[in-house]
Amino acid sequence: MDEKELVINYVEYDSLDEMPAAERELMERSMKAAATAYAPYSRFHVGAAVLLADGTVVTGSNQENIAYPSGLCAERVALFSASAQYPSLAVTALAVVGYHDGQYCEASPCGACRQTMAEYEMRFGNSISIFCYLNGGRIRKISGVKSLIPFGFEAEL
Ligand code: THU
Repeated sequence: MDEKELVINYVEYDSLDEMPAAERELMERSMKAAATAYAPYSRFHVGAAVLLADGTVVTGSNQENIAYPSGLCAERVALFSASAQYPSLAVTALAVVGYHDGQYCEASPCGACRQTMAEYEMRFGNSISIFCYLNGGRIRKISGVKSLIPFGFEAEL
């Protein structure tokens, strides 16, 4: 029997101002995208922005439905839209933010979105950086989806 340990490394910026310009711009695109959310049931708006290998940014927002499970998270709206429009371009980064009660707030990708991001890492063979806005304006940067979904599903099908 081996006892093992898993270490997750990440960084946190104090604010948008502390981020390198390209990263800050991606976060700002996700903040703008939150305004396009269709979230009449939860009233929790989420914006996401995906950066592609050639610098293209594709945004998404959560889209809800009266038949609740039919809705989709902002992250997957952005990822699927990026893949549908630019199927040959790798995803290199994703930023996500919540908006509720008149202010930006924390949003961290759900399990299904993490598994979806893992698929894009596998598909293009590159690591994706994830930026999450935190309550109070700090931003967390996680380098690589494996840190978000350790032991995620992988199979040779
Ligand atoms: N949601 C996202 O869009 N992304 C997340 O990371 C977490 C949750 C959405 C789903 C639903 O429309 C609303 O936020 C409340 O759960």
